[in-house]
Amino acid sequence: MDRDKDVFDDLEGMVVEEAKQKYSATVIDHFLNPRNTGIPESFDCYTYMSGICGDTIGIYVGFDNGRIARTGFVTNGCGPTVACSSAITCMVEGATLEEAMSITGKQLIEYLGGLPIENTHCADLAVNTLRGALAKMT
Ligand code: FES
Repeated sequence: MDRDKDVFDDLEGMVVEEAKQKYSATVIDHFLNPRNTGIPESFDCYTYMSGICGDTIGIYVGFDNGRIARTGFVTNGCGPTVACSSAITCMVEGATLEEAMSITGKQLIEYLGGLPIENTHCADLAVNTLRGALAKMT
């Protein structure tokens, strides 16, 4: 049993080391420790969207007094998609509807400390999903 755990820890360490060559520390942190996962107990709007690669994100948003107070996300996507979903839910904490709507993929990528070009569509998917959810409030 302990040997299986050691092998798993070694493999996990190798994967993380490989990821560090490609992704920023912020991306890896949001992937390994995603914030606001799952569906919040209460929310005012949500939507699901699929990207060009077929990955899907669902984002849930709840407001208190005109500001975003609760968020949650689910995804079947890749590591960068998890990181983008997690990061965008953090970016909108306390934001008004208009402020959250105005967040761009470029801003999300900057927040994450950059993304490889092949993963910029993951950021676009997260932004578009957030906007799709918020559009239901207008
Ligand atoms: S959303 Fe397509 S690879 Fe991440």
